[in-house]
Amino acid sequence: MKFHYPLLENAFTKSDISQAVKVIKSQNLTMGLKTKEFERKFSRFINSKYCLMVNSGSSANLLAMFALINPKKENSLKRGDECLVPAVCWSTSLWPIYQAGLVPKFVDVDLKSFSISFNEIKKNITKKTKAIMIINVLGNCSEIDKIRSFSKKKNIYLIEDNCESFGSSYKNKFLGTFGDFSTFSFYYSHQLTAGEGGMIVCKNYKDYKLLQTLRSHGWDREIKKTKNTFNFINQGFNLRPLEVSAAIGINQLKRLKTMINVRKKNREKIIKTMKNSIKWNNQYSFFEANKYLKPSWFSLPLLINSKYLNKKKNFLRYLGKNKIETRPIISGNFVNQPCVNLHKIKYNKKYLKNSEEIEKRGFFIGLPTKPLKSNTIKKLADLLLDLK
Ligand SMILES: Cc1ncc(COP(=O)(O)O)c(C=O)c1O
Repeated sequence: MKFHYPLLENAFTKSDISQAVKVIKSQNLTMGLKTKEFERKFSRFINSKYCLMVNSGSSANLLAMFALINPKKENSLKRGDECLVPAVCWSTSLWPIYQAGLVPKFVDVDLKSFSISFNEIKKNITKKTKAIMIINVLGNCSEIDKIRSFSKKKNIYLIEDNCESFGSSYKNKFLGTFGDFSTFSFYYSHQLTAGEGGMIVCKNYKDYKLLQTLRSHGWDREIKKTKNTFNFINQGFNLRPLEVSAAIGINQLKRLKTMINVRKKNREKIIKTMKNSIKWNNQYSFFEANKYLKPSWFSLPLLINSKYLNKKKNFLRYLGKNKIETRPIISGNFVNQPCVNLHKIKYNKKYLKNSEEIEKRGFFIGLPTKPLKSNTIKKLADLLLDLK
């Protein structure tokens, strides 16, 4: 068989598909009982009471920021309030901040977790800082417990974008349960994939009800449990998920732990094979889990060591030609993306040195949820070590 190492593997099983088909045959496609069941099971899984399913992780981030500025929110934020955001971020971690009328302030990440460190947060907050968006990158995190206590003490909202780290736990507490709002994505290739889908987790009943209203047009149907009213009590979106995604989500949740373990083993085997090869010459540094973290890996990020840096561009082309797909770590240093200047978001690259380094040195390859064959691992390691 021809060698191909894709970024995204097909993680669906026959039983995922049969659950999806059942929903289609029932003809109940619009948000309903399956979504409720998934929310309930997800909530039990992560041990957090208030979980609301949406149609993507991006929508979950959008809801979080619009809940923060809503008049129904106690101590709501005001237009112009500042929200810290890591420079290594995803497009829709950043844009909901801006769309909600808040001012994003890019903060550097650390080279270990690729996330904002506790120290960097302390260095960057000012009187204007009213919210902090952190991202748990590719299954990892920084000192999230300290960040949580600090933000609480300072009355600064914490939004935890956990779209890349479902299933990781820090000091025995799942990531995605630390923020005032925490978000998850079930996009293809994430730890649990429903094709599309997301979840938002909050800390109290009032916020939960607010999120429900914002998710569905701003009407009061879910609040009052009165069906078919046309009473609009707030602004709103339509960010509802499909029942098919919920049915796949329920089914995958049953084997999430297995998938996490398979990914962990695949990762260990690839690294071991590379390090044991005669071609190993410290070409790369690997992304290591925080010492208090039980990781649920998303992918295998690699940082090219400086000696080989001028070869990176050609080398990634070489990997592509040899059927190893690669991509940047999230989107690299996001301030380098044209959209940031288009919308005149301010930044100072002088303070984003690590983020720049991650963009220059980093890339990642996929990490399948099915066990890799040993000859695939050998071939993969061999090609990766052609960096000379
Ligand atoms: C950190 C982060 N936040 C948000 C998202 C958006 O999730 P979705 O693709 O479900 O909209 C992603 C997407 O991969 C992501 O990596």
